[in-house]
Amino acid sequence: MKDTLNVAITGCGVIGRTHAVALQEFPQATIVALVDAIPDAAETLAAFIEKSGRRRPAVYSTIAEAFAAEDIDLVALATPSGLHIQQGVEVLAAGKHVIIEKPLDVDLSRAQEIEAAAQAAAEHGIVASVISQHRFDQASVVVADAVAQGRFGRLTSAIASVAWYRSQGYYDSGDWRGTWSMDGGGALMNQGVHTVDLLLWFMGRPVEIDARTARLAHDRIEVEDTAVATVTFENGGLAVLHATTAAYPGLTVRLQLMGSKGSAVVDNDRLEYFHAADAGGESADMGLQGGGNQAEQELAKSPAEDYEAKDPTVYPAGHVRQYRDILGAIAEGRDPGVTVSDAVNALAAVRAVYVSATLNQPVLFEDVLAGKYNDLEVRTGNTSAESV
Ligand SMILES: NC(=O)c1ccc[n+]([C@@H]2O[C@H](COP(=O)([O-])OP(=O)(O)OC[C@H]3O[C@@H](n4cnc5c(N)ncnc54)[C@H](O)[C@@H]3O)[C@@H](O)[C@H]2O)c1
Repeated sequence: MKDTLNVAITGCGVIGRTHAVALQEFPQATIVALVDAIPDAAETLAAFIEKSGRRRPAVYSTIAEAFAAEDIDLVALATPSGLHIQQGVEVLAAGKHVIIEKPLDVDLSRAQEIEAAAQAAAEHGIVASVISQHRFDQASVVVADAVAQGRFGRLTSAIASVAWYRSQGYYDSGDWRGTWSMDGGGALMNQGVHTVDLLLWFMGRPVEIDARTARLAHDRIEVEDTAVATVTFENGGLAVLHATTAAYPGLTVRLQLMGSKGSAVVDNDRLEYFHAADAGGESADMGLQGGGNQAEQELAKSPAEDYEAKDPTVYPAGHVRQYRDILGAIAEGRDPGVTVSDAVNALAAVRAVYVSATLNQPVLFEDVLAGKYNDLEVRTGNTSAESV
């Protein structure tokens, strides 16, 4: 096992830079190569890295060129979503560790291929992980631990809402944004997949999804800007899922998790409410109606320094935490906190919403995963802004 890891970032746009900044926290990782189809994008990021006091990485226009020229251990894929599986399979085939930006891809039909490649690679100590940085937020960790310990009793329901705003200018800023081929969907796929992943992490495997979608406040995009769904889970629990980029001026991401012995609310990554019956405190036949908040005492149990408040506009705390997990997985030869299979499930849940909305009927999650609807051309943005 080498002491240092040579990293290549592929895709040097908005989130490629986030990876470069996050990697600054890890002296054991050196960015040796930047890959981008647009040379200027890679050169700009190389200059940024050099300006921040580190070695200027070499610049390439394909992953193959970078592999031919450099000794690379780990590739971070920060390219448009529709390239993720293709490039992920290429990286794994070369025997390198890979970190894939969310979502895993736009195309579920190739998901099994990368899942199999990741499992085969894991046998040789190669780590494949998909970014879902909000799993590493302190609030998410507290809730996941409580769920794992059964502290909420039977999970009865959840409400997951991503009520965001993205301007037309946002969609116009990249020709891949809002397209089926490269974005793979709209508000739910791009902005909502983090919350879908958290919902599945907490509630378990979905059984049935019934959804409606619309494009209500944007033009020149092929996909939905608003999606709602109901989800039933294997544990019997029920959830409401909501994602929009048409909620001006942008509200919060909110996840409410409710059980027979406790409940939690995470709002904009913060633990707004937590109550578990096993922590004691008052109770009442008619419930506490939002009272009995134990959030502070639960948060106090987690290591505080890891979650110190830093300016979130410049410090990518979520990516830093997930890198810590992934670099730890590589060093220790263990599975990462977020596996490719986790990301396949999140992608399948989003796809199930799109299939249900297109067919106007509920669909079974396992049917979607098994490829029953792979040939269906989904439509989620059929209501145009002009018609309202
Ligand atoms: N984890 C998060 O919170 C988060 C946030 C934003 C974006 N993302 C994801 O990151 C990915 C990229 O999003 P972005 O906003 O950075 O996009 P972007 O358009 O800013 O950057 C994408 C870059 O990839 C490059 N590229 C395109 N095709 C390429 C190819 N074949 N090989 C190499 N480079 C290529 C483009 O030239 C561009 O520089 C998307 O999958 C998106 O969903 C994740």
